[in-house]
Amino acid sequence: MAKTAKTKTLTDIAKLTKAQAKVEHMRLALELEAHDKRYYQEDAPSISDAEYDALRQRFNAIEKRFPEFVTAESPSQKIGAMPSGRFKKVRHAVPMLSLDNAFAEQDVLDFVGRIERFLKLSDDKIDFSAEPKIDGLSMSLRYEGGELVTAATRGDGAEGEDVTANIRTLEDVPQKLKGRNVPDICEVRGEVYMTKKAFLALNERQKAAGDTIFANPRNSAAGSLRQKDPSITASRPLGFFAYSWGQMSAMPEKTQTGMIHWFERCGFKTNPLTKLCHSVEHLIAFHHKIEEQRGELDYDIDGVVYKIDRIDWQERLGFVSRTPRWAIAHKFPAERAMTVLRDIEIQVGRTGSFTPVGKLEPVGVGGVIVQNVTLHNEDYIKGIGNKGEQLREGRDIRIGDTVVIQRAGDVIPQVVDVVIDKRPKNTKEFHFPKKCPCPLHTDVVREETATGEEGSRARCTGEFACPYQKIEHLKLFVSRRAFDIDGLGEKQLQYFFDEGWVREPADIFTLPKRNAKLKLEEIEGYGETSVRNLFAAIESRRRIALERFIYALGMRHVGETTALALARGYGSWDAFHDACLKIAKGDEDTIAEMDALDQIGDTVIKSVAAYFGESHNRGIVERLVKELSEIVDAEKPKSNSAVAGKTVVFTGSLEKMTRDEAKATAERLGAKAAGSVSKKTDYVVAGPGAGSKLAEAKKHGVQVLTEDEWLKLIGE
Ligand code: IVH
Repeated sequence: MAKTAKTKTLTDIAKLTKAQAKVEHMRLALELEAHDKRYYQEDAPSISDAEYDALRQRFNAIEKRFPEFVTAESPSQKIGAMPSGRFKKVRHAVPMLSLDNAFAEQDVLDFVGRIERFLKLSDDKIDFSAEPKIDGLSMSLRYEGGELVTAATRGDGAEGEDVTANIRTLEDVPQKLKGRNVPDICEVRGEVYMTKKAFLALNERQKAAGDTIFANPRNSAAGSLRQKDPSITASRPLGFFAYSWGQMSAMPEKTQTGMIHWFERCGFKTNPLTKLCHSVEHLIAFHHKIEEQRGELDYDIDGVVYKIDRIDWQERLGFVSRTPRWAIAHKFPAERAMTVLRDIEIQVGRTGSFTPVGKLEPVGVGGVIVQNVTLHNEDYIKGIGNKGEQLREGRDIRIGDTVVIQRAGDVIPQVVDVVIDKRPKNTKEFHFPKKCPCPLHTDVVREETATGEEGSRARCTGEFACPYQKIEHLKLFVSRRAFDIDGLGEKQLQYFFDEGWVREPADIFTLPKRNAKLKLEEIEGYGETSVRNLFAAIESRRRIALERFIYALGMRHVGETTALALARGYGSWDAFHDACLKIAKGDEDTIAEMDALDQIGDTVIKSVAAYFGESHNRGIVERLVKELSEIVDAEKPKSNSAVAGKTVVFTGSLEKMTRDEAKATAERLGAKAAGSVSKKTDYVVAGPGAGSKLAEAKKHGVQVLTEDEWLKLIGE
């Protein structure tokens, strides 16, 4: 950056035109991200702290003058995503997970029902800890020998930021745990928050000093924590409620509520509204009561959290993906606002599906400015639901209408109603396009549903010839959970695509050697540092984990979780690729093998077959693989267990555990839990009432175990 500063004279921010500011904002965002990456992930900063601060200051000053440039992706807003700002990274000993959401009472009933089925409880009653869901920032506090050693933010769940110096200034966080015999390692987790009163007072002070105004107490708590100077954090009144834990060398209590009391004995504050509930009715009543009190509380909450009280049951229930089975957040109803719909645009997704997006007169809902809203599909705009039912009493949505929108938690905003009284005269119904807006103008068809009826989703028939679909795939390819190529955001990618430089994934990897021809540096807003950083990012991604690679291919129905299941199932790219090619040719054994993998079924197999059945796609994959140095084999979970790598089928009724639980345990130990018996099955665990699967096992000479024999084998 020193170089850029020397060669370019910086214009006073007050004199920048909006267009100039926009370009500089984009360039600075890229540079800051690249510097953060070099600093944190490569431990090789290329500029001094002072230079970095100068960049950030200029960036912040631009955002202050043009607040409309601030997006969720802006480096100024990255809290709770990848570690940002200049703090050391900390890998969490136990990942920090998030919670599944319930909105309706039925969701809570379903949650409890799932648990009962999973645990196969008959007479045992389930107790729950019901707690307010504090709208702040989660924090993990690590104590060793009773002393606070590290405080880390959640970050991406696996890795957060080290904010220890700042956290030490919080009155609610003990430096030393009270009481004797505290376990040697204790990770206490909870929420850092700012009271509403403190937030209003802070904004007054900020306004008077001409500093950043925070949108809500959560943002102000985050901003206050991410200060380089702990004395600034100390001047901001932050609170902390303890409600959970990470790594513990010993468990002092057997229940969630027990742990909460233990936190109190250690010197923490816990939320006084927390209650032990004994039934679903009790939970719902708690939700209503807390919702009534919400306005009077001096801190923001966005729902309540229910957790199974018994920790041994929590352990049995375990996790699905990133959320525990034993807890759920029951959110409060969404906040609503009224605004004008200015336009409707059609977005073409990666797989060619059309989503109409409403462009709104920007409006604040629950502390966030909303400008776009999904209008789902053609029928939704007309006022017709998925099952043909009327929506909004049949009112259609027209450009120029005043609409009521709502935003529930992290869920994308929705139009819940149209205010007909405010409809301007002479508005016309919206006509859904019959042709793709891409230059090919391909026909649009409505998808069929599983039952063969006309579905509501419209799709472009252009497939790989449709440039919209190509660009959407490229966006997924470079995204954070796929190849994670820094410095290649949507805007840059669109530019490279429009210029014809990047038309398919492999082209990204040949960019560095084509640079002389492309002269990237001549692009407005693309400095020498940005190009250098981009190339470094590209180089570093020639080695990629198998699950990311599979996800990045962009097959329909193969999201992150499915990609991980496939990667774990096959272990290596060669094995997976080989299977995909065979499946595309209809090889039945290979199809059965993929079908036997956990979480993989018909839909995914069909999609794999369609993808690899297309020669254009095979070419894309082949060219891409050539550009990579290594596709890293997937880790097989717990490969040292007695059943790792084995395929097991459970049949008949089990007595000590439910089928779901048995499968989950098997998978945790690295075994494959399959649904049907084949010659590749290693064990069939048969309980009373086992029928055809037992016969199949005998036919194939597969070893049959009783439930007890299985438990002995896995050491439980
Ligand atoms: S428990 C494994 N309890 O909600 C479960 N979370 O959406 C860990 N939160 O990241 C979370 N109040 O920041 C839990 N009483 C509470 C909470 C709470 C607020 C936040 C927390 C978490 C997020 C999940």
